[in-house]
Amino acid sequence: MKECALLVKHLFTTSDSPRAGGKNIGLKNKAMENNIKISEDIYWVGASDRSITLFENVLPIPRGVSYNNYLVLDEKTTLFDTADHAVGRQFFENIAAALNGRRLDYVVVQHMEPDHCATLEELLVRYPEVIIVTNSKAVQMITQFFELDLVDRVQLVAEGDTLTTGRHTFTFVMAPMVHWPEVMLTYDSTDHLLFSADAFGTFGALNGNIFADEVNYTTEWVDDMRRYYTNIVGKYGVQVQATLKKAQSLDIRTICPLHGPIIRTAGDIDFILDKYSKWSAYEPEEKGVMIAYGSMYGDTEAAMNKMAALLAARGVKHIAMYDVARTDETLLVAEAFRWSHIVLAAPTYTNGLYGPMEHFLNDLKSHNLQNRSWCIIENGSWAPVSGKLMRAIVEPLKGSRFVNTALEARQNEAGQTLTVDLTLKSSMKASQLPQMEQLVDAIAVEVAGQQKEEVAMGNVDPKTIFRINYGLYVLTAREGDKDNGCIINTAVQLTSTPLQIMISVNKSNLTHDMVLSTGKFNLSLLTEQTPMNVIQHFGFQSGRTVNKFADCESEHRSVNGLLYVPKYTNAFISAHVIKTVDVGTHTIFIAEVTEAQMLSDERSLTYAYYQENIKPKVAATAGKTKWVCKVCGYVYEGDELPDDFICPWCKHGKEDFERVTG
Ligand code: FEO
Repeated sequence: MKECALLVKHLFTTSDSPRAGGKNIGLKNKAMENNIKISEDIYWVGASDRSITLFENVLPIPRGVSYNNYLVLDEKTTLFDTADHAVGRQFFENIAAALNGRRLDYVVVQHMEPDHCATLEELLVRYPEVIIVTNSKAVQMITQFFELDLVDRVQLVAEGDTLTTGRHTFTFVMAPMVHWPEVMLTYDSTDHLLFSADAFGTFGALNGNIFADEVNYTTEWVDDMRRYYTNIVGKYGVQVQATLKKAQSLDIRTICPLHGPIIRTAGDIDFILDKYSKWSAYEPEEKGVMIAYGSMYGDTEAAMNKMAALLAARGVKHIAMYDVARTDETLLVAEAFRWSHIVLAAPTYTNGLYGPMEHFLNDLKSHNLQNRSWCIIENGSWAPVSGKLMRAIVEPLKGSRFVNTALEARQNEAGQTLTVDLTLKSSMKASQLPQMEQLVDAIAVEVAGQQKEEVAMGNVDPKTIFRINYGLYVLTAREGDKDNGCIINTAVQLTSTPLQIMISVNKSNLTHDMVLSTGKFNLSLLTEQTPMNVIQHFGFQSGRTVNKFADCESEHRSVNGLLYVPKYTNAFISAHVIKTVDVGTHTIFIAEVTEAQMLSDERSLTYAYYQENIKPKVAATAGKTKWVCKVCGYVYEGDELPDDFICPWCKHGKEDFERVTG
């Protein structure tokens, strides 16, 4: 045992020295003492503050906080740390009650932050014979916080020094930067107990039960524990690791932190050691995705909602979404320490990065976050730069990687290397979905471990699709006073009881939007007698520019109030939509039939019949090259059809044209 006592030089002396009386005063207050025995002769003499709103005047703590103190009633009495002013009355009442008239011999000062030392001066007044046991760095801080006469009042200790108080022998373990440079821990080899200062503590007031095994410690406390650790000592992972290494050589059976529950079961000790091991090594605590976004008008948020849904659909179970402008930054920091993958999405703002996101990322940098996988999505209406700026902050963080490993190889039209995964111009477009899906797939494989099923592909001849029996139908809808109709070729019966049908409609059609909005439609079933101009009328022009029912000789409406087509049809069916399925370019509407009437005995028109008998045939002309639309028969004359050519009638692209040469 190495005991060291040092007479601290006369630092500050006052004429009315509190030691004048020469014995402990131990004043009693009127508060009710609240001490709890934690071993044969050790008492918890702490208190909780539920009125505090901001810890260190910066961290919101809605569940309050406890300031733990421990009093050892051995041959010599020893108090571990003092307390915040807010609980001073309770603290002194507890000590006086526990001492029950005995003198206080030692106060071990493990940490000089005022939440544990604010009442030190008053303690010295109340107990003038008490000796402060602490290290030289802490003494320096005592002289900074207080003007005290410390002559003969300090017993200095250093790494490995011990203090024996009778039954107990305490060994001091220096733990610089867990949380301040003067911090030390104390190991009691008699009861195998570690007084751990700030380490292993947590926010949250203690509510009667002071032991971790008396509360739902690993579930209900872990969020506060993480927020406490990451924001307070998150930056000092190396120092925490060094302290954990020292702790490994000790037989610790109980941990007594300065905040939060006392940990005394092997399971709870393993739990908190594992958390500290991961947090201090900057290893992700869980595989999952944090989506941190900023959004000025909801467009970036909408894109992130889509991304979250895609991730969920790909089997990612743990997704945490946060609006950085509306979430306390200390929670954002804690969550960043928790998850393995972080998606950042933010608008460009005054030619820079959206402020709350910039602040959040700089906070991560200052907390030394490492080893995260990033995905970066920017938004900008005219000159997007937010992605580049986000990347500039997170890329230098040690162990940063980007989910999209092919990113570096991608270049924009100007040949510049891209630095972001996805650029939104004001809002996300359907055409960007494949790009987002690529990112989602990459994340899902890493987080959920699910490889997208590789399907063996053979040759796909598009003509085979036409061998399926399709009909041709006029789909009609009505919204407000407007009637409209279009041609569709996909409609099938799904069930007979109830009678349900399914139709598939291209999203570019106005009728699509009207059905989606009203949930009602009529289907008029065309016959083989249908002339081409009927197909052209409903199929090759838009209701947005033409009133397709303007020249109707008569109006035929079904019970649901929608028009149907009485001529060149053999039946109509009215239906009420019960479900929609988004399939990319089209929406599938599943609907219950509400009315169905036969109109004639003519044969239904099939797509094949239309192709063979109704669609105009284009004759070859000597010396001329023509391009004929296979869908509607539109003819384009010219040697080459431009790659981006769109059929002006049916809107199909170049791939649906065939070349006719004379
Ligand atoms: Fe609980 Fe660093 O103070």
